[in-house]
Amino acid sequence: MQKTVQLYEGKAKKVYATENEDLVIVSYKDDATAFDGQKKGTIVGKGVVNNRMSNYLMQVLEKQGIKTHFVEELNDRETVVRKVSIVPLEVIIRNISAGSFAKRYGVEEGIVFDEPTIEFSYKNDDLHDPLINDYHALALKLATKDEIAQIKSMAFKINEVLKAYFIKLGVKLVDFKLEFGRLKDGTIVLADEISPDTCRFWDAKTNEKLDKDRFRRDLGNVEDAYKEMMHRVFGD
Ligand code: TMP
Repeated sequence: MQKTVQLYEGKAKKVYATENEDLVIVSYKDDATAFDGQKKGTIVGKGVVNNRMSNYLMQVLEKQGIKTHFVEELNDRETVVRKVSIVPLEVIIRNISAGSFAKRYGVEEGIVFDEPTIEFSYKNDDLHDPLINDYHALALKLATKDEIAQIKSMAFKINEVLKAYFIKLGVKLVDFKLEFGRLKDGTIVLADEISPDTCRFWDAKTNEKLDKDRFRRDLGNVEDAYKEMMHRVFGD
């Protein structure tokens, strides 16, 4: 599979067309941004970690009956995925209080919830990805009722699979962000990535942060955290 023209460059990835109109190639960069791109930097090796980890996790999920965009890993940074039209919702699942949840509701980080929570943000950089509810998403025609129901049920199932997977590696899955896409025939599939950029991972014993919060919050040892997560998943 060969790249043809570049279709899109995002903050962390580039997307290329291929000779097959139903497939695109994603190329993961080491560029890191936070706070709507206001903070910029490089995390050396991040593209490799995110590409390999995301592909591996999507295959774990496929085995559990979750449809994803994953097709084939080409090399350390590049992957063939099914072309989708992205549903402009950031779907956030939380198991433990942290980040914007802790800030918005004035609670400490680290409260373990009895049940996971779900929230949607409208994926729109100009508006700074505002928090919205199902009714707003419907009013804005971002997705249909049926799509929203499917997305919620897939997101909670993904949470159960990933939570169980990561705890075996000594990692608490605190929260994460998912994006879904529509195939040509309307099927909803998991798209984008699942990586230390899009998840909060805490060491199960020490609660040490092993994700992009080390970059967002200037905690240091950013590359080491990505390497540690790679080590936990692949043993290398
Ligand atoms: P938050 O606590 O800042 O709302 O983040 C919740 C989760 O979503 C966390 O695991 C990080 C992830 N996330 C993204 O993947 N992209 C984003 O732009 C933001 C704000 C959060």
